[in-house]
Amino acid sequence: MKGENGNLVSAVEINNLSRRFGKHLLAVDNLNLSIKRGEIFALLGPNGAGKTTTIKMLCCLLRPSSGNATVMGKDILQAPQAVKQVINVSPQETAVARNLTALENLILMGKIYGINSGKTRARAEELLEMVGLGKRSGEAVKRFSGGMLRRLSIAMALISDPCVLFLDEPTAGLDARSRKSLWELIESFRGKKTVVLTTHYLEEADALADRLAIINKGRLVALGTSEELKQKLAGMETMTIKAEDLTQKAVERLEENYPRVTLTDGKLIIEAEKLDFDTVVDCLRAEGVRIKWLSMKEPSLDEIYLKITEGGQMDESA
Ligand SMILES: Nc1ncnc2c1ncn2[C@@H]1O[C@H](COP(=O)(O)OP(=O)(O)OP(=O)(O)O)[C@@H](O)[C@H]1O
Ligand SMILES: [Mg+2]
Repeated sequence: MKGENGNLVSAVEINNLSRRFGKHLLAVDNLNLSIKRGEIFALLGPNGAGKTTTIKMLCCLLRPSSGNATVMGKDILQAPQAVKQVINVSPQETAVARNLTALENLILMGKIYGINSGKTRARAEELLEMVGLGKRSGEAVKRFSGGMLRRLSIAMALISDPCVLFLDEPTAGLDARSRKSLWELIESFRGKKTVVLTTHYLEEADALADRLAIINKGRLVALGTSEELKQKLAGMETMTIKAEDLTQKAVERLEENYPRVTLTDGKLIIEAEKLDFDTVVDCLRAEGVRIKWLSMKEPSLDEIYLKITEGGQMDESA
């Protein structure tokens, strides 16, 4: 993807990328995707959807069966070394040297990336502070909890100051406070680094990602901002009303505007793609209905996710 002045604006360009395991499993199926520079991009999808396989191919850890991709303009097949210089990854299965301390793990990672050792130490200390492990930096990581290992793994991915950072389920197993502080860290990269993350927490994608892609059985089934997905694939808005003096006539009057009206357990439920608060209230008041309580619910990302990952596949333009 090129900008107005002809410069490459995409960080990751994926073209017809596929990966087969054995004869029968197409883990990634002809994926096409363009991720912009400075974007926080979330990959969502059920277990086994192909998220990790995609990330491994983009990080040159796994060869595609067909198709190709570029990262910061560098070709993953032709120039894997150049790709590795501009990326780093915090893998789903945290890979750390368990007998080394947190600080030593970071320094080791710095060495692998050929960073000057004086600089590495200062940066390692800064990063450990940033991920909340400053006080534990001298401790052997075999004593770390799962959440601490996740945070260490992210610090390790940041040591090389990568342009593109891949985070495979960065907040899996983190407690609410750690997750929040990691969100803040990821948020601070917006516009500066490109972050491609996978997550099973829809509220995480909703809160963090500029755009998100949902993949199912290796195929891209939805792409856009969370607002776009909510609008395009939407879910209905729902209004639930408790009222006195509800009459059949009032229900019929509502049905003229919104065909899906149900009355159950004394509650009136109205569903529509777009509900107008005033219209509903005016209809009911005109029929002498006294509203006791009313709640409105927007379609959630969860509903959309469940809809498109359960009921077969939808193409990107859906
Ligand atoms: N090395 C491998 N050999 C054989 N099959 C594999 C291999 N790696 C992944 N697979 C299969 O490819 C499919 C996609 O796996 P992948 O790890 O990419 O899923 P995922 O979307 O990351 O899932 P999760 O959310 O559980 O992490 C799965 O069916 C998995 O079993
Ligand atoms: Mg995975």
